[in-house]
Amino acid sequence: MPAKYASLPNPVICTPLALSEAKAHWADHCATCHANHGDGATMLGKNMYPRPPDMREGETQNQSDGELYYTIKNGVRLTGMPAFGEPGDSDLDSWKLVCLVRHLPRLTSEEVTEMKKLNPKTPDDREEERQEADFLNGASVAPDEHHHH
Ligand code: HEC
Repeated sequence: MPAKYASLPNPVICTPLALSEAKAHWADHCATCHANHGDGATMLGKNMYPRPPDMREGETQNQSDGELYYTIKNGVRLTGMPAFGEPGDSDLDSWKLVCLVRHLPRLTSEEVTEMKKLNPKTPDDREEERQEADFLNGASVAPDEHHHH
């Protein structure tokens, strides 16, 4: 990693708004491997080598903001960790994700519940939602039909 990254400060102030954007991004793009709460014990994460670390622990938390940012942007070669974000050194979305990585050890169960709604769906989940929607649509159409009699 280029030395300048280690001491790069996070230009984003980690406000609740920045965090909620990062949570949505994480739930959608990172949680399949890292889990919403960051322990990496997902179906995919558990079957990777090397495995994603428990990001709430020291191995991750002891790194500087700049180091985390560099990893998010560039990925980790020869591992499952892909590169994300826009080119350039002021990719604010990636910096917001650094805010979230810092927040992971304090994530509440309410926050995890919110994130679950934003996780990518499996085909089975989608089918179930479709059937529910069909059922609800059917149920709301039915009373209407009575007006025509
Ligand atoms: C396809 C699986 C996968 C996805 C998706 C993924 N990661 Fe990773 N990530 C990994 C793996 C595996 C590692 C461990 C790499 C290693 O051993 O150095 C890792 C490592 C990291 C690390 C370094 C942790 C440390 O302690 O050094 C950070 C930070 C990170 N990921 C952030 C993210 C963010 C943010 C996203 C979403 C934008 C994301 N990852 C998406 C698999 C993934």
